[in-house]
Amino acid sequence: MTIASQAPGRLDRDLEIDPARWNKPDVYQLITSLVVPRPIAWVSTVSPNGCANLAPYSYFNLVADHPPHAMFSSIGEKDTLTNIRNTGEFVINVADQSLLEALDASGGDFDSEVDEFVEVGVTAVPSVRVRPPRVGQARAHLECTLAATYPVGNGTLVIGQVVHVHVDPSVWHDGRADSRLLDPVLRLSRCYGRLSDDVTAEEEPAPHVFQ
Ligand SMILES: Cc1cc2nc3c(=O)[nH]c(=O)nc-3n(C[C@H](O)[C@H](O)[C@H](O)COP(=O)(O)O)c2cc1C
Repeated sequence: MTIASQAPGRLDRDLEIDPARWNKPDVYQLITSLVVPRPIAWVSTVSPNGCANLAPYSYFNLVADHPPHAMFSSIGEKDTLTNIRNTGEFVINVADQSLLEALDASGGDFDSEVDEFVEVGVTAVPSVRVRPPRVGQARAHLECTLAATYPVGNGTLVIGQVVHVHVDPSVWHDGRADSRLLDPVLRLSRCYGRLSDDVTAEEEPAPHVFQ
């Protein structure tokens, strides 16, 4: 049975809703159109018998910086989550615009024993501290060990401690990774985006940063 949309096509007055009163797809469309842009964790894992898995997760951010921890959320029990539960390890690959097609393809529904590096045409390169390979074409990687999982709503929050960081020299400038050179793929409401030229403001740090 198809549930009719409860999201109005246009608004004549302010929208004020209790999300519990809308159907799930409409709530999803609404909140993912409001929390934008989202960075994307391109997460690589391995199954217990060694099959490499790769998938994008835009419910993603940092949790702590000392020691550094990152998080993403799996909506439902997916291969990535199962592999992390089984092995305790994952890699967050940072995808730049040249990897957009492969990143998008890796969001497809593949059997758990399909090597998704092969499937989407990227190179599996050994990681330094963890077993899952990293994407050779990506220019930055965070190798993580599982710190905690928490069920939240229909999601499972996965928190990983970053135990190794790799950055390619091509994106390094003046003591840090330069956002413009990194040129990460971002998730917008229904599509992908990239950082705008406004990011040049980064060149003029707010005074308090260095006081
Ligand atoms: C750009 C993008 C972002 C996504 N973000 C998430 C996310 O944050 N959480 C989630 O559960 N699924 C997300 N998905 C869907 C998963 O990537 C998709 O279900 C994938 O098949 C999971 O693969 P796995 O079973 O190998 O883990 C996203 C898909 C795309 C294309």
